[in-house]
Amino acid sequence: MSDDRLDALLALVRCPLSGAALTLVEGDADEGILSAGLPGEDAESHEYPLLGGIPVLVPDAAAFLARHRDAVIAALAEEGRVSRATVALLHELVDGVRGDDYEAFAEDWTAREVDTKAPGFDVPEGTAGELVRGLVRQGNPWPRIADAVPAEARHVVEVGPGAGPLTALLGRDRHVVLLDRSLRALFTASRHAKGAQLLLAEAEALPLAPRSTDAIVAANVIDLLGDPMAFLMRASEALRPGGTLVLTTPDPWPWEEDPETAEAMLAHVGLSLDVFEDDLLWVREHGPREVQLYRMQLLVARR
Ligand SMILES: C[S@@+](CC[C@H](N)C(=O)[O-])C[C@H]1O[C@@H](n2cnc3c(N)ncnc32)[C@H](O)[C@@H]1O
Repeated sequence: MSDDRLDALLALVRCPLSGAALTLVEGDADEGILSAGLPGEDAESHEYPLLGGIPVLVPDAAAFLARHRDAVIAALAEEGRVSRATVALLHELVDGVRGDDYEAFAEDWTAREVDTKAPGFDVPEGTAGELVRGLVRQGNPWPRIADAVPAEARHVVEVGPGAGPLTALLGRDRHVVLLDRSLRALFTASRHAKGAQLLLAEAEALPLAPRSTDAIVAANVIDLLGDPMAFLMRASEALRPGGTLVLTTPDPWPWEEDPETAEAMLAHVGLSLDVFEDDLLWVREHGPREVQLYRMQLLVARR
């Protein structure tokens, strides 16, 4: 990572625990340690490694890496980002650390979401085939979601991009930051947004500087969070005044599917609800005999 990119990163991110600014205290921008360096506190609990140039900004980075060490090394290796220094730093960080409190995560994407230009599956002629083809045509919610981000938003953070079906549409002429707790998701989504800044982080402990971005988009993530309000609070703080938050979910339990509850929840964190749409169809093609259909809600809020 160049010095300019490191400076841009340090201006964007904060300690996920304290919100304090981070500095590089060891190594370099590829294999190094960022620290909040809080006086009077245990420094190690506020240290975040850079591994293969990826900042690991989860609240307890050592425990996270102890839990996910193999997955992290495999994902970095696939991208050609593992050096001896990476492995040495990883070992140093996780030595004697238990990661039992971090839950495992699974990849949650289809082959077509990884390769958005891949041809669809062959479906049979006849009524069933017509029905499936019709659903697949209508079940592409990504252009509508991308349109919800104002054209003038130049800096956009996508939280939980997964394989990145939305990322390609967000990235046009914009600076895109991808934030996910899965390193493999970050690399997969970043194929759709060359030059995107990648952050390995947790949505509920969003490590973003106050007023640092024009828009935050989280498609189909909020329903997975243990503490959606923590995410909304951090997201609101990270938006510039007038900034936009775009949320979608097929499982709107945090606001009980109800627009008034959604409005009150967003107002609680300083956001005003602009758009509430229901029945956005999302079709996931798993194979020629398995097509999943979701109905999503879309919320757009302003700071
Ligand atoms: C259901 S997928 C949605 C992917 C994509 N946005 C889409 O709509 O197809 C959820 C994504 O959020 C990520 N994720 C889940 N919980 C997270 C958390 N607490 N913090 C950050 N990312 C999280 C997952 O790793 C995954 O990439």
